[in-house]
Amino acid sequence: ATPLKDLAAAKGLRFGSAMAAHQLSDPRYVEVIRRECGVIVAENEHKWYVIHPQSDQWNFQPADALVDFAKTEGLGMRGHTLLWHHPRWLPDWVNALEFDSAAQAEAMLGDYVTRVASRYHPFIYSWDVVNEAVDDKTGALRETAFSRAMGPEAIDFCFHKAKEAAPDATLAYNDYMSWESGNENHRKGVLKLLERLVKNGVPIDALGVQSHSNYDMPDAFTPEKQRAWREFVDEVVAMGLDVYLTEFDVNDTDLPPDVETRDRLMAGYAKDYLDMMLSYEQTKDLLVWGMVDSYSWLQDFLPREDGVPKRPTLYDAAYRPKPLREAVAAAL
Ligand code: XIL
Repeated sequence: ATPLKDLAAAKGLRFGSAMAAHQLSDPRYVEVIRRECGVIVAENEHKWYVIHPQSDQWNFQPADALVDFAKTEGLGMRGHTLLWHHPRWLPDWVNALEFDSAAQAEAMLGDYVTRVASRYHPFIYSWDVVNEAVDDKTGALRETAFSRAMGPEAIDFCFHKAKEAAPDATLAYNDYMSWESGNENHRKGVLKLLERLVKNGVPIDALGVQSHSNYDMPDAFTPEKQRAWREFVDEVVAMGLDVYLTEFDVNDTDLPPDVETRDRLMAGYAKDYLDMMLSYEQTKDLLVWGMVDSYSWLQDFLPREDGVPKRPTLYDAAYRPKPLREAVAAAL
């Protein structure tokens, strides 16, 4: 089969996957990445809780290992993420900070963003500067120690610092948008944030659309959902922003356990979603959140109630390509 990276390149797109440092010692996984991907992104290794887990600890080793691998293999690399603007994913010591002034918060946040973004410049061609800043239920901005001191401009500030440190990288805001749920607040909140950033002249190039897709039984991707989603993307591109699909996988929580049925439904769903997203010329990257089912974050994060292993990625636990891979290839 033609490698996905080649199918993507023929359309002017990049295809890639998340990868974790521990997978570097799995030759079969490395082989799949080598064959299919033009780009990787660190699954967790560039996150604050890994790089700066305590106020007096810095740990670049796992991130550097992935960056070195990408360089050696001739792969491109995205960076994820400079600020995961969600208290759950910031280390406790950061959540506990109480700054005396906005200037004090800026000094710390600026130092962090500058250190991380400049370390990998110009190799990392694109950063998810800020991740998941919008509350998915209300559409309001989530609070962090930084926003408490700096206000919503903590987000603007990160983009400016990232631009200074990595002037050649494209900069994205990354989120999941909750588009299948019918709750529009999340999308509205993201649009409001993007509008403000663009209006303020913040250096932002793209919206990262995570694309952790949920197969909602019984009607996966109704015309109504498709229409609402298109309206959202239309507004994003009208702001002059590109679109990156940054973390594609399919959640099979609600699907029947039978593998053939599950795989068929997921593949059809993926094809519909990707056809729609790839119909925008502004869509530039397609990255999946892992290539092999057994490593998928969803096995632990959202296990199936029946305990049957999930099948969210393009390759099964025996490293065999699945119908989901065929669907991605067909959409490319
Ligand atoms: C996930 C990783 O896959 C897990 O290993 C980790 O425990 C939590 O984070 N949205 C994102 C990614 O932006 O960073 C998340 O990655 C998945 C959801």
